[in-house]
Amino acid sequence: MKRTTLLFILLLLAIALPAYFRTQKKHSEIIKPDVHYVPTPQNVVDEMLAMARVGSDDILYDLGCGDGRIVITAAKKWGTRGIGIEIDPKLIRLSKGNAAKAKVEDRVTFYEQDLFETDFSEATVVALYLLPELNLRLRRKFLTELRPGSRIVSHSWDMGEWEADDVRLSSPYWLEWFPGESPKRSPLFMWVIPANVSGIWQWQEGNGSQDRKELRITQRFQKAEGVFSGPAGKNLAAVEIAGESVQITIDEVIGEKIQRTIYQGRAEGDVIEGMVTFGHGPKKENRPWRAVRLPGTMTAVDKEKKLPEKEEKKVTP
Ligand SMILES: C[S@@+](CC[C@H](N)C(=O)[O-])C[C@H]1O[C@@H](n2cnc3c(N)ncnc32)[C@H](O)[C@@H]1O
Repeated sequence: MKRTTLLFILLLLAIALPAYFRTQKKHSEIIKPDVHYVPTPQNVVDEMLAMARVGSDDILYDLGCGDGRIVITAAKKWGTRGIGIEIDPKLIRLSKGNAAKAKVEDRVTFYEQDLFETDFSEATVVALYLLPELNLRLRRKFLTELRPGSRIVSHSWDMGEWEADDVRLSSPYWLEWFPGESPKRSPLFMWVIPANVSGIWQWQEGNGSQDRKELRITQRFQKAEGVFSGPAGKNLAAVEIAGESVQITIDEVIGEKIQRTIYQGRAEGDVIEGMVTFGHGPKKENRPWRAVRLPGTMTAVDKEKKLPEKEEKKVTP
Protein backbone atom coordinates (compact mmCIF):
# COMPACT_ATOMS: atom_id res chain seq x y z
CA MET A 1 0.00 0.00 0.00
CA LYS A 2 1.28 3.43 -0.94
CA ARG A 3 2.33 5.74 1.89
CA THR A 4 -0.14 8.43 0.76
CA THR A 5 -3.04 5.92 0.78
CA LEU A 6 -2.07 4.79 4.29
CA LEU A 7 -1.90 8.39 5.47
CA PHE A 8 -5.30 9.06 3.91
CA ILE A 9 -6.85 6.05 5.73
CA LEU A 10 -5.30 7.12 9.04
CA LEU A 11 -6.65 10.65 8.52
CA LEU A 12 -10.13 9.29 7.83
CA LEU A 13 -9.98 7.13 10.96
CA ALA A 14 -8.79 10.10 13.02
CA ILE A 15 -11.91 12.01 11.94
CA ALA A 16 -14.42 9.17 11.98
CA LEU A 17 -13.56 7.32 15.22
CA PRO A 18 -14.09 10.18 17.71
CA ALA A 19 -17.36 11.03 15.94
CA TYR A 20 -18.43 7.37 16.24
CA PHE A 21 -17.61 7.22 19.97
CA ARG A 22 -19.32 10.58 20.53
CA THR A 23 -22.58 9.25 19.05
CA GLN A 24 -22.24 6.00 21.05
CA LYS A 25 -21.84 7.99 24.28
CA LYS A 26 -24.78 10.20 23.39
CA HIS A 27 -26.87 7.10 22.72
CA SER A 28 -26.14 5.52 26.11
CA GLU A 29 -26.88 8.86 27.76
CA ILE A 30 -30.34 8.96 26.15
CA ILE A 31 -31.32 5.51 27.43
CA LYS A 32 -31.87 5.95 31.12
CA PRO A 33 -34.45 3.40 32.13
CA ASP A 34 -36.09 4.17 35.47
CA VAL A 35 -36.31 0.42 36.04
CA HIS A 36 -34.43 -2.43 34.42
CA TYR A 37 -35.95 -4.91 32.05
CA VAL A 38 -37.43 -7.98 33.73
CA PRO A 39 -40.17 -9.72 31.74
CA THR A 40 -43.47 -10.70 33.35
CA PRO A 41 -43.81 -14.52 33.13
CA GLN A 42 -46.41 -15.56 30.54
CA ASN A 43 -48.85 -17.12 33.04
CA VAL A 44 -48.77 -13.85 35.02
CA VAL A 45 -49.41 -11.83 31.82
CA ASP A 46 -52.53 -13.95 31.19
CA GLU A 47 -53.71 -13.44 34.76
CA MET A 48 -53.14 -9.66 34.67
CA LEU A 49 -55.16 -9.34 31.45
CA ALA A 50 -57.99 -11.47 32.87
CA MET A 51 -58.01 -9.39 36.06
CA ALA A 52 -58.38 -6.16 34.04
CA ARG A 53 -61.15 -7.84 31.97
CA VAL A 54 -59.38 -6.82 28.75
CA GLY A 55 -61.56 -7.16 25.66
CA SER A 56 -61.70 -6.34 21.97
CA ASP A 57 -63.01 -2.79 22.57
CA ASP A 58 -60.17 -1.83 24.87
CA ILE A 59 -57.12 0.29 24.18
CA LEU A 60 -54.30 -1.20 26.24
CA TYR A 61 -51.11 0.69 27.12
CA ASP A 62 -48.09 -1.08 28.62
CA LEU A 63 -45.87 1.60 30.16
CA GLY A 64 -42.37 0.12 29.84
CA CYS A 65 -43.37 -2.73 27.54
CA GLY A 66 -40.08 -4.69 27.42
CA ASP A 67 -40.41 -7.32 24.68
CA GLY A 68 -44.07 -6.35 24.08
CA ARG A 69 -45.54 -9.57 25.51
CA ILE A 70 -48.46 -7.92 27.38
CA VAL A 71 -49.90 -6.02 24.42
CA ILE A 72 -49.08 -8.87 22.01
CA THR A 73 -50.89 -11.44 24.21
CA ALA A 74 -53.99 -9.20 24.49
CA ALA A 75 -54.03 -8.64 20.71
CA LYS A 76 -53.66 -12.37 20.02
CA LYS A 77 -56.24 -13.58 22.55
CA TRP A 78 -58.88 -10.85 22.38
CA GLY A 79 -58.02 -8.68 19.37
CA THR A 80 -57.28 -5.75 21.73
CA ARG A 81 -55.59 -2.68 20.26
CA GLY A 82 -52.33 -2.23 22.17
CA ILE A 83 -49.66 0.43 22.53
CA GLY A 84 -46.27 -0.41 24.03
CA ILE A 85 -44.14 2.43 25.38
CA GLU A 86 -40.47 1.60 25.86
CA ILE A 87 -37.35 3.72 26.33
CA ASP A 88 -34.86 1.11 25.12
CA PRO A 89 -34.61 0.95 21.29
CA LYS A 90 -33.34 -2.66 21.38
CA LEU A 91 -36.50 -3.70 23.19
CA ILE A 92 -38.62 -1.74 20.72
CA ARG A 93 -37.00 -3.72 17.87
CA LEU A 94 -37.57 -6.96 19.80
CA SER A 95 -41.24 -6.05 20.43
CA LYS A 96 -41.83 -5.28 16.75
CA GLY A 97 -40.22 -8.61 15.76
CA ASN A 98 -42.37 -10.48 18.31
CA ALA A 99 -45.53 -8.76 17.04
CA ALA A 100 -44.65 -9.83 13.49
CA LYS A 101 -44.09 -13.45 14.62
CA ALA A 102 -47.45 -13.40 16.42
CA LYS A 103 -49.12 -11.84 13.33
CA VAL A 104 -50.65 -8.98 15.31
CA GLU A 105 -48.75 -6.02 13.77
CA ASP A 106 -52.07 -4.51 12.69
CA ARG A 107 -53.29 -4.39 16.32
CA VAL A 108 -50.18 -3.22 18.20
CA THR A 109 -47.89 -0.18 17.98
CA PHE A 110 -44.64 0.44 19.82
CA TYR A 111 -43.22 3.86 20.61
CA GLU A 112 -39.68 4.50 21.75
CA GLN A 113 -40.29 7.16 24.36
CA ASP A 114 -40.24 8.05 28.03
CA LEU A 115 -43.39 6.79 29.73
CA PHE A 116 -43.46 9.92 31.93
CA GLU A 117 -43.82 12.06 28.81
CA THR A 118 -46.47 9.87 27.20
CA ASP A 119 -50.05 10.98 26.69
CA PHE A 120 -51.96 7.79 27.54
CA SER A 121 -55.33 9.49 28.11
CA GLU A 122 -56.98 7.36 25.37
CA ALA A 123 -56.16 4.13 27.29
CA THR A 124 -59.01 2.10 28.74
CA VAL A 125 -56.53 -0.31 30.35
CA VAL A 126 -52.95 0.40 31.53
CA ALA A 127 -50.48 -2.36 32.42
CA LEU A 128 -47.51 -1.72 34.71
CA TYR A 129 -44.48 -3.62 35.90
CA LEU A 130 -42.36 -0.82 37.26
CA LEU A 131 -41.39 0.09 40.85
CA PRO A 132 -43.46 1.41 43.79
CA GLU A 133 -42.08 4.96 43.52
CA LEU A 134 -42.73 5.03 39.76
CA ASN A 135 -46.34 3.91 40.29
CA LEU A 136 -46.70 6.74 42.81
CA ARG A 137 -45.23 9.26 40.37
CA LEU A 138 -47.87 8.23 37.84
CA ARG A 139 -50.82 8.16 40.27
CA ARG A 140 -52.02 11.76 39.85
CA LYS A 141 -51.77 11.44 36.05
CA PHE A 142 -53.88 8.27 36.14
CA LEU A 143 -56.54 9.86 38.33
CA THR A 144 -56.83 13.04 36.29
CA GLU A 145 -56.20 11.87 32.72
CA LEU A 146 -57.83 8.44 32.41
CA ARG A 147 -61.59 8.23 31.91
CA PRO A 148 -63.64 6.89 34.84
CA GLY A 149 -64.10 3.15 34.43
CA SER A 150 -60.62 2.63 32.92
CA ARG A 151 -58.53 -0.05 34.65
CA ILE A 152 -54.92 -0.18 35.77
CA VAL A 153 -53.25 -3.52 36.43
CA SER A 154 -49.86 -3.74 38.11
CA HIS A 155 -47.46 -6.62 38.54
CA SER A 156 -45.90 -6.68 42.03
CA TRP A 157 -46.37 -3.04 43.12
CA ASP A 158 -49.25 -1.14 44.67
CA MET A 159 -50.15 2.55 44.53
CA GLY A 160 -49.63 3.65 48.16
CA GLU A 161 -52.80 4.76 49.97
CA TRP A 162 -54.88 4.22 46.84
CA GLU A 163 -56.21 0.78 47.73
CA ALA A 164 -56.62 -1.59 44.82
CA ASP A 165 -60.14 -2.73 43.87
CA ASP A 166 -58.80 -6.25 43.38
CA VAL A 167 -55.65 -7.91 44.75
CA ARG A 168 -54.59 -11.45 43.88
CA LEU A 169 -51.55 -13.68 44.06
CA SER A 170 -50.40 -15.01 40.70
CA SER A 171 -50.06 -18.70 40.01
CA PRO A 172 -46.48 -20.00 40.49
CA TYR A 173 -43.72 -19.36 37.96
CA TRP A 174 -40.08 -20.23 37.65
CA LEU A 175 -37.51 -17.58 36.76
CA GLU A 176 -35.88 -18.46 33.43
CA TRP A 177 -32.44 -17.33 34.66
CA PHE A 178 -32.65 -19.31 37.96
CA PRO A 179 -33.98 -22.67 36.76
CA GLY A 180 -33.06 -24.45 40.04
CA GLU A 181 -34.89 -21.95 42.28
CA SER A 182 -38.20 -22.70 43.97
CA PRO A 183 -41.28 -21.28 42.22
CA LYS A 184 -42.38 -17.69 42.88
CA ARG A 185 -45.75 -15.98 42.99
CA SER A 186 -46.33 -12.26 42.47
CA PRO A 187 -48.98 -10.00 43.97
CA LEU A 188 -51.18 -8.45 41.28
CA PHE A 189 -53.19 -5.23 41.77
CA MET A 190 -56.10 -3.79 39.81
CA TRP A 191 -57.73 -0.37 40.16
CA VAL A 192 -60.79 1.10 38.43
CA ILE A 193 -60.54 4.86 37.83
CA PRO A 194 -63.30 6.44 39.92
CA ALA A 195 -65.38 9.41 38.78
CA ASN A 196 -64.46 12.42 40.90
CA VAL A 197 -67.76 13.33 42.63
CA SER A 198 -66.25 15.47 45.38
CA GLY A 199 -67.95 18.80 46.01
CA ILE A 200 -71.41 20.21 46.64
CA TRP A 201 -74.28 18.67 44.67
CA GLN A 202 -77.82 20.01 44.47
CA TRP A 203 -81.05 18.72 43.01
CA GLN A 204 -84.75 19.47 43.17
CA GLU A 205 -87.37 16.83 44.04
CA GLY A 206 -90.56 18.90 43.96
CA ASN A 207 -91.50 22.51 43.44
CA GLY A 208 -91.05 23.90 46.95
CA SER A 209 -87.86 25.37 48.30
CA GLN A 210 -87.87 22.60 50.96
CA ASP A 211 -87.63 20.12 48.07
CA ARG A 212 -84.17 21.31 47.13
CA LYS A 213 -81.60 18.76 48.27
CA GLU A 214 -77.94 19.29 48.85
CA LEU A 215 -75.16 16.77 49.37
CA ARG A 216 -71.58 17.69 50.27
CA ILE A 217 -69.22 14.91 49.26
CA THR A 218 -65.59 14.37 50.20
CA GLN A 219 -63.74 11.76 48.21
CA ARG A 220 -60.42 10.04 48.67
CA PHE A 221 -59.59 7.86 45.69
CA GLN A 222 -62.66 5.60 45.15
CA LYS A 223 -64.09 6.13 48.65
CA ALA A 224 -66.55 8.88 49.47
CA GLU A 225 -68.56 10.20 52.38
CA GLY A 226 -70.72 13.21 52.86
CA VAL A 227 -73.38 15.23 54.61
CA PHE A 228 -76.93 15.47 53.31
CA SER A 229 -79.00 18.61 53.90
CA GLY A 230 -82.66 17.83 53.55
CA PRO A 231 -85.68 17.38 55.77
CA ALA A 232 -84.90 16.52 59.40
CA GLY A 233 -84.47 12.79 59.98
CA LYS A 234 -83.03 12.05 56.55
CA ASN A 235 -79.38 11.07 56.60
CA LEU A 236 -76.79 9.93 54.15
CA ALA A 237 -76.14 6.20 54.55
CA ALA A 238 -73.57 5.75 51.78
CA VAL A 239 -72.00 7.16 48.63
CA GLU A 240 -70.60 4.40 46.45
CA ILE A 241 -68.52 4.95 43.32
CA ALA A 242 -67.77 2.29 40.71
CA GLY A 243 -66.03 3.88 37.73
CA GLU A 244 -68.51 6.43 36.36
CA SER A 245 -71.47 4.98 38.31
CA VAL A 246 -72.56 6.62 41.55
CA GLN A 247 -75.04 5.38 44.10
CA ILE A 248 -76.25 7.61 46.95
CA THR A 249 -78.33 6.03 49.73
CA ILE A 250 -80.40 8.27 52.02
CA ASP A 251 -82.15 6.77 55.06
CA GLU A 252 -85.07 8.21 56.95
CA VAL A 253 -85.99 6.78 60.32
CA ILE A 254 -89.78 6.57 60.63
CA GLY A 255 -90.71 5.09 64.01
CA GLU A 256 -89.17 1.62 64.10
CA LYS A 257 -88.59 1.51 60.35
CA ILE A 258 -85.99 2.88 57.97
CA GLN A 259 -87.28 4.30 54.71
CA ARG A 260 -84.53 4.10 52.10
CA THR A 261 -84.13 6.30 49.01
CA ILE A 262 -81.56 5.26 46.43
CA TYR A 263 -80.18 7.66 43.82
CA GLN A 264 -78.28 5.97 41.01
CA GLY A 265 -76.63 7.67 38.09
CA ARG A 266 -73.71 8.26 35.76
CA ALA A 267 -71.36 11.09 36.61
CA GLU A 268 -70.12 13.19 33.75
CA GLY A 269 -68.34 16.42 34.57
CA ASP A 270 -70.55 18.45 36.90
CA VAL A 271 -73.73 16.43 36.30
CA ILE A 272 -75.00 13.11 37.65
CA GLU A 273 -77.97 11.77 35.76
CA GLY A 274 -80.02 8.65 36.48
CA MET A 275 -82.95 7.41 38.54
CA VAL A 276 -84.11 7.71 42.09
CA THR A 277 -85.99 4.88 43.80
CA PHE A 278 -88.28 5.71 46.73
CA GLY A 279 -89.54 2.99 49.06
CA HIS A 280 -89.76 -0.71 48.24
CA GLY A 281 -92.23 -3.49 47.55
CA PRO A 282 -95.60 -2.41 46.06
CA LYS A 283 -94.93 1.20 47.10
CA LYS A 284 -91.68 1.35 45.16
CA GLU A 285 -91.44 4.29 42.81
CA ASN A 286 -88.77 5.25 40.26
CA ARG A 287 -88.26 8.74 38.91
CA PRO A 288 -85.61 10.40 36.77
CA TRP A 289 -82.98 12.23 38.80
CA ARG A 290 -80.40 14.86 37.91
CA ALA A 291 -77.91 16.52 40.26
CA VAL A 292 -75.57 19.39 39.46
CA ARG A 293 -72.29 20.23 41.19
CA LEU A 294 -71.72 23.80 42.30
CA PRO A 295 -68.86 25.30 40.28
CA GLY A 296 -65.45 25.31 41.95
CA THR A 297 -66.32 22.79 44.68
CA MET A 298 -64.58 19.74 43.18
CA THR A 299 -61.20 18.82 44.74
CA ALA A 300 -58.39 16.39 43.87
CA VAL A 301 -59.14 12.88 45.16
CA ASP A 302 -55.57 12.07 46.13
CA LYS A 303 -55.27 14.73 48.84
CA GLU A 304 -56.22 14.70 52.54
CA LYS A 305 -59.32 16.83 52.98
CA LYS A 306 -62.29 17.87 55.06
CA LEU A 307 -65.91 18.35 53.97
CA PRO A 308 -66.45 21.39 51.72
CA GLU A 309 -68.05 24.37 53.45
CA LYS A 310 -71.79 24.68 53.00
CA GLU A 311 -72.49 26.86 49.97
CA GLU A 312 -75.32 29.37 50.16
CA LYS A 313 -75.52 30.05 46.43
CA LYS A 314 -78.49 28.20 44.89
CA VAL A 315 -78.15 26.31 41.64
CA THR A 316 -81.17 24.37 40.50
CA PRO A 317 -80.45 21.45 38.19
C1 LIG B 1 -39.71 -4.56 34.61
S1 LIG B 1 -39.72 -4.27 32.88
C2 LIG B 1 -41.35 -4.76 32.42
C3 LIG B 1 -41.50 -5.13 30.97
C4 LIG B 1 -42.93 -5.53 30.54
N1 LIG B 1 -43.88 -4.51 30.92
C5 LIG B 1 -43.34 -6.83 31.17
O1 LIG B 1 -44.09 -6.79 32.16
O2 LIG B 1 -42.89 -7.88 30.68
C6 LIG B 1 -39.78 -2.49 32.81
C7 LIG B 1 -39.51 -1.90 31.45
O3 LIG B 1 -39.67 -0.49 31.52
C8 LIG B 1 -38.72 0.11 30.65
N2 LIG B 1 -38.54 1.51 31.12
C9 LIG B 1 -37.87 1.93 32.22
N3 LIG B 1 -37.94 3.26 32.34
C10 LIG B 1 -38.69 3.70 31.32
C11 LIG B 1 -39.16 4.98 30.91
N4 LIG B 1 -38.86 6.09 31.59
N5 LIG B 1 -39.93 5.08 29.80
C12 LIG B 1 -40.24 3.95 29.09
N6 LIG B 1 -39.83 2.71 29.42
C13 LIG B 1 -39.07 2.58 30.52
C14 LIG B 1 -37.49 -0.74 30.81
O4 LIG B 1 -36.61 -0.60 29.73
C15 LIG B 1 -38.11 -2.14 30.91
O5 LIG B 1 -38.22 -2.73 29.65
